[in-house]
Amino acid sequence: MARITAGVGTSHVPAIGAAIDLKKTGEEYWKPVFAGYEWSKSWIGTEKPDVVVLVYNDHASAFDMKIIPTFAIGCGERFAPADEGWGPRPVPDVIGHPDLAWHIAQSLILDEFDMTIINEMTVDHGLTVPLSLMFGEPDAWPVKVVPLAVNVVTYPPPTGNRCWALGEAIRRAVKSFPEDLNVQVWGTGGMSHQLQGPRAGLINAEWDNMFLDGLIGESDALRHIPHIEYLRETGSEGIEMVMWLIMRGALGPATRCLHRHYHVPASNTAVGHIVLEPITGD
Ligand code: DHB
Ligand code: FE
Repeated sequence: MARITAGVGTSHVPAIGAAIDLKKTGEEYWKPVFAGYEWSKSWIGTEKPDVVVLVYNDHASAFDMKIIPTFAIGCGERFAPADEGWGPRPVPDVIGHPDLAWHIAQSLILDEFDMTIINEMTVDHGLTVPLSLMFGEPDAWPVKVVPLAVNVVTYPPPTGNRCWALGEAIRRAVKSFPEDLNVQVWGTGGMSHQLQGPRAGLINAEWDNMFLDGLIGESDALRHIPHIEYLRETGSEGIEMVMWLIMRGALGPATRCLHRHYHVPASNTAVGHIVLEPITGD
């Protein structure tokens, strides 16, 4: 049977992708950002997941104001990097796992989560930067990816509670897939950032670390944080952190922290990263 073996949370700052693509990772500004991923890169090299269910948000690349799915699942064979205005990132195409993706879609919809099924789409920095942070610059990504896109760009985004519950349903879906697969769930985005207006540049390290603490152990208190708290405490784009709760919900009742990293600044944001393992084997 397929099983969820770990969860990864990480920021997906586009400037990180540009730093990698332009060979700037050795610069003083970027060194501490990337240093926090060294442990994770060697860890994932031994874990060798078969598939990552990668929870991210599209930033008006594949979707725009014409169509705004709250939760969308990519069931296609492959997903090319998006043209985000500067041209698509020079990274490999993302290879999907249509059988697992369709199984998850069916399980979630019968479990009363009304997913949008997407067979063709491009994927932007929200999905490709986490792959680069975890795998570096390979010729082909060493995992298959089931993209799971969440609307956190246009009001109203889903609640944290709904995101956590969707993670719980993804856990049930993966566990009922008959093939023996090592599956990880990643939550991306965040941490605190506000990109525009008088509060642009807002960083709340104390709140971000409270959020990282809350992902560890048995508590599910994070699922009850209201939208207004994310906005007030972490800036308008801090709402991206609800996506980490899908990852946390998918890990079951309790987690153990294997690795954690927090650094300010990267572009206009705080970079956060965590690697979690489910404690129960259920
Ligand atoms: C920026 C954009 C993002 O989508 C994000 O998650 C973090 C930072 C930026 O433009 O700096
Ligand atoms: Fe983003």
